Amino acid sequence: MLVACATKKGSTREVAETIADVLRGQGSDADVVEAGAVDAPDSYDAVVLGGAIYMGRWHRDALRLLERHRKTLAGMPVFVFGMGPRTLAEDEVAGSRLALDIALAKVPEVEPLSLAIFGGVVDPAKLRFPFSRMPASDARDWHAIRDWADAIGSRLAGAPAGAAR
Ligand SMILES: Cc1cc2nc3c(=O)[nH]c(=O)nc-3n(C[C@H](O)[C@H](O)[C@H](O)COP(=O)(O)O)c2cc1C
Repeated sequence: MLVACATKKGSTREVAETIADVLRGQGSDADVVEAGAVDAPDSYDAVVLGGAIYMGRWHRDALRLLERHRKTLAGMPVFVFGMGPRTLAEDEVAGSRLALDIALAKVPEVEPLSLAIFGGVVDPAKLRFPFSRMPASDARDWHAIRDWADAIGSRLAGAPAGAAR
C-alpha cells in the first residue's frame, strides 16, 4: 500500500504516517512517500493520497501524481484526503471539500473509493508574515483519521466498508 502525501509544513505527512500505522496494524505493508517522489504506483496494491489545501487549491504535487499516473490509478483502489479547514464547522469543511472536488474533476478517470477532509494545522511559527499573525490551531480529529484508515484496511481485506466516507 502506498500512502502518498503532499505537504508544505508537515501536518499532512503526520496524518499520512498515522494512516500508514493503522494499515500496518491490520497487516498491510504501507510506505509513506512524498507525492512528488512517487514514480511507480503500479508496484502497490492500493494508493492513499493526501494533500494540504492552500488558498483554495489542493497541493499541486497531489494533483500532479493523479495526472501523471492517471491510467494506472484508474484501475487501482484509490483513497483520497484533503487537509485542512481551521475548524470542523460544516461550512469550512464544505469549502475545503470544494477545493478537493475541483482538483479531482481534472482527473475524472481516477475515481476514489473514499474521500475525506481532515481538519488542518496552523503553526504561526512556521509561517511568514502576514500568515505568521494567524492564531495557532490544530483541527485534526485523530479518531476520525484512524477510523477512515481502518475502513480502508477493511475494504481492501474484503470486509464490509464500515465507516468509510
Ligand atoms: C496561507 C494559508 C492558506 C490556507 N488556505 C487554506 C484553504 O484554502 N483551505 C483549507 O482547507 N485550508 C487552508 N489552509 C490550511 C492548511 O491546509 C493547513 O494549515 C494544513 O494543515 C497545512 O498542511 P501542511 O502542514 O501539510 O502543509 C491554509 C493555510 C495557510 C497557512
